[in-house]
Order: sequence, then structure tokens, then C-alpha cells
Amino acid sequence: MRTAVSLFTGCGGSDAGLSTCGFEVLMANDVLAYAKDVYEANMPETDYRLGDIRKIKSFPKADLLVGCYPCQGFSQAGVRDPSRSINYLYREFDRALRQIKPKAFIVENVAGMRRADSIHLYENQLRRFRLAGYKVKAKVLSAIDYGVPQERMRLFFVGIRSDLGETYEFPEPTHVQLSSSDDTRPFVPTLKDAIGHLPEWPTGEYDEQPFHWYYLSRNRRRGWHEVSKTIVANSRHVPLHPISPVLTRLHTDSWKFSSDAPARRLSYREAAVIQGFSDRMKFPDTCGIALRYRVVGNAVPPPLFAAVARTIPDIW
Ligand SMILES: C[S@@+](CC[C@H](N)C(=O)[O-])C[C@H]1O[C@@H](n2cnc3c(N)ncnc32)[C@H](O)[C@@H]1O
Repeated sequence: MRTAVSLFTGCGGSDAGLSTCGFEVLMANDVLAYAKDVYEANMPETDYRLGDIRKIKSFPKADLLVGCYPCQGFSQAGVRDPSRSINYLYREFDRALRQIKPKAFIVENVAGMRRADSIHLYENQLRRFRLAGYKVKAKVLSAIDYGVPQERMRLFFVGIRSDLGETYEFPEPTHVQLSSSDDTRPFVPTLKDAIGHLPEWPTGEYDEQPFHWYYLSRNRRRGWHEVSKTIVANSRHVPLHPISPVLTRLHTDSWKFSSDAPARRLSYREAAVIQGFSDRMKFPDTCGIALRYRVVGNAVPPPLFAAVARTIPDIW
């Protein structure tokens, strides 16, 4: 079986994707205890090491190395500061890459890394991975194109060890939103397709904090026949469930509900399903809902990650 090592694993979006492509994940790592709890409840076979990556001295040999290092410095949702030390954790990925020397690697990160103020970090990563002996390609992909019912743009680096003589090509979109008559690809699911079967008011599974002015500074709602807005990690900013009244624009950066009918945010379980996790995903009771939303919102959508992994040439 093909083997993988997973770093910055979170609750395992990348690894859930890999498991659908026939990979066995030998080792995973994250510093967040609840991410490990969720991962182990759903994928108990992996050796998940809890702790700071900087303290891990050696990694098992594997065919593939994957990692989605933190992105707070580049993210729309985070504090945009390219000088923050958290932005340099890619060096730890590079250290593991040089030690393991896998046949291939995949990195996922936010598309904002290519903005002018952080482009030096982006280029530094490309340079390091090439110097480590890999032919590297980078591309921003839209999750919608791979059947994920959510607007989510993500940057991927894929490298293949140079001695293997292969080149990576990113996958063509596997799904379409509006099909032409000769397009046989499946439609991207809508919110109705994805979460329409789940309970309308899953008490205790959604953030009930008031909709503060910042929340209402943009349109957070999508209808049943649309795809979701981006699932974010901060529970307060998670999009509205389509059962909520429509939001109407008052003026720039100010929206209001069109009626007094009850409104709610998507639940953490709905958020997980929209990311592409199973609707039977287990969430252990070792923390409150904010951390559940966080591990889900931080994850890479498993179907997107699987699409990227599946198009690696047969070097195994
Ligand atoms: C973008 S998330 C990765 C999500 C994951 N790839 C998934 O698909 O679920 C980044 C992760 O890096 C972890 N992290 C941050 N600093 C770390 C460190 N020093 N050592 C290990 N993990 C760290 C965070 O806890 C977070 O779960």
C-alpha cells in the first residue's frame, strides 16, 4: 500500500482525502489536542503525535508527505502580517521533506500567499522545495471545480522527486455548475443536496451568539440552490444556514435581515459536510463548539485534496 506522512494535520481533511485514494497515513502531527481527538475518533489507525512540529526529531519513511501549514499571516480571515513567526513553519515541512525524501509531496495553503506583501515567502518555499530535489508545480484551485459545494480558493504546491523523471499536472475540473449539452461531468452539489437531509434546528450544534455589526457587514447567506460561502474557522463568522431570512443591503458594508423569522449560522456538522466530510463524522465531547468549528474550518476539503493526490503519476 502507498504510505504517507501528514504534518499540520488538524482533524484530517487531507488524510480523509488520501484514504479515498488508497494511502495509508503512517504518522500525523498537530499541536491542537482537539484536532487529534477528532482525527482519532474517525481514523484510529494512524500514529497521531500531539505536539509542536519543531520538537519532532525523526519521521517515518513514506511515499508521500503532505502538510498544510498555518496561514494566519496570509489569510483573509486572519491577522494579515507576513512577518509573523507562524508563517515560517514551512521550514519545518522542508526539514521533514529532506529527511523523509518521499517520492512526492503536497502542500495546501491559502491563495493569499501570492499577494504582493507575502510573495517572498511563496517564492522562498518554491526555492527550498526545488533545492530539496523536487520538480514543483503551484496552482490556485477552486474547490467547487472538484465537487465541493463551497466557494473556497486554495493554493497547492505539488512536488515530484526529480530522479523519478515525472512531471505533475494539476487535475482538470471534475464537476460543473452549469452543464452544456455535451458536458457529461456531474453537477456540483447545492446546499440542498449537501445538507438538506440534516435536522433544521440541531440544538447545541450551532453558534448562537448575536449577529453583531461585523457579521452583518457582508452578505453571509446563500440559498438552498446555491453553493456555500467559505467555511471559516471562527464560529462567529460562519455563514448563515439557508433557512435564515434573506439579507438585504442597507449600504456599503451593512446588511439586514429581510424579516424577523429565525436565523442561524450553519452548524459545525453542516460545515463539515459542506467541506466534504461524512455526515457521520464523530466529534468527541472533549471541548465546546468553538473548537469543533475551528478544526472543521481549518481543514482542506477531502474531495479537493483527493483530486490533487489522484493525478500524481504512477510513481509508487
Ligand atoms: C490549516 S490547519 C491544517 C488543517 C489540516 N490540513 C486539515 O486538513 O484538517 C494548520 C494546522 O497547523 C497546526 N499547527 C500550528 N502550529 C503548529 C506547530 N508548531 N506544530 C504542529 N502543528 C501546528 C494548527 O493547530 C492547525 O491545525
